[in-house]
Amino acid sequence: MSNSILLDAPNLGALEKTYLNKALDSNYVSTVGPFVPEFETKFASYLKAGGAVAVQSGTAAIHMALYELGIKAGDEVIVPAITFIATVNPIVYVGATPIFVDIDSNSWNIDPKALRKAITPKTKAIIPVHLYGNPCNMAEIMDIAKQYGLFVVEDSTESLGASYGGKATGIFGDMGCFSFNGNKVITTGGGGMVTTTDPERAAHIKFLVNQARDAGRDYYYHPEIGFNNRMTNLEAALGLAQFERLSEFLSKKRQFYQEYQRILGGDNRLSLQQELPGAISSVWMSSVRFNSHRVDLTIPEIMAKLKEKGVPSRRIFQPLFDSPPYQKYKSEDYSNAYELFENGLNLPSSTLNSIEDIRYTAISLLEILDSI
Ligand SMILES: Cc1ncc(COP(=O)(O)O)c(C=O)c1O
Repeated sequence: MSNSILLDAPNLGALEKTYLNKALDSNYVSTVGPFVPEFETKFASYLKAGGAVAVQSGTAAIHMALYELGIKAGDEVIVPAITFIATVNPIVYVGATPIFVDIDSNSWNIDPKALRKAITPKTKAIIPVHLYGNPCNMAEIMDIAKQYGLFVVEDSTESLGASYGGKATGIFGDMGCFSFNGNKVITTGGGGMVTTTDPERAAHIKFLVNQARDAGRDYYYHPEIGFNNRMTNLEAALGLAQFERLSEFLSKKRQFYQEYQRILGGDNRLSLQQELPGAISSVWMSSVRFNSHRVDLTIPEIMAKLKEKGVPSRRIFQPLFDSPPYQKYKSEDYSNAYELFENGLNLPSSTLNSIEDIRYTAISLLEILDSI
């Protein structure tokens, strides 16, 4: 076991220092410099996307995606009941209305049946969230989107490296949104990426995030209202280094998930988040749900006992319509979402952990369940 077990801490080393030093030595620390376009090109080509634009955060990526698609007041955007609030806030930034639907209890992602039922004449877009890196049922979601003429903006902030039917998450829909926050699969400190299937949309987002400035003129001219959402050369330096290490991170996360599965998988008191057929998760966070009929401890009690053993954990996102700004959007039966919130837990998944840390965590969890 290493010194301390980590939930989601970033993994930074010599390569990151080399790239950062190159950025510092070149004196390009802000939004000008070669690393931003290099990061964008490599990212788009890895995903086989039509284009990629580096931005300041995953939240900004979702905001820019919705803005670019012209989502506005009066439009409805369908989202899963369980996600981080940053999936939903950008819907409100553009003046539209979030419509929450229940999740599927195996994948923990948006339930296509519930999604279909929530469509109205006002629906303009769907934001499927690949929760904790686990791909949504993109075959059904894309069929529904096609049938009703809806935009799809994938929240792939947690799923870099995940795929469904051999295709990367983030390139199924019109837009894909990634996050490089410190706890994500790779980090730039803080940052994000918007990917699109359409190179013209990518060029327009690139223009929007730079204050909609017309780069073809030798004076400041802004034909539209834009944003300052650009990534800096320093952040992109970190991103390029981390991106080179992506397969190392993904294989470690997969190994951790398999170890959790090996030790916990056969126990009927709990179940790990499940991949759909054809889906390969990034397993950004290995996560577990306890069977409330077989486990008498509450999630806060399990977390406290894990903490006593030196194991950090985190609760699943609370259904967002229980947060004050979103209470008015609560519209249907969300039994799967509540079941997951009340019984689910994120387990240590940082790639700084050793396999022994993961084994210790899984065994500790079983000891806690056995002790009651
Ligand atoms: C599901 C989800 N959506 C959106 C975001 C927003 O990303 P960021 O923190 O980079 O703004 C995050 C991460 O924080 C997330 O987990």
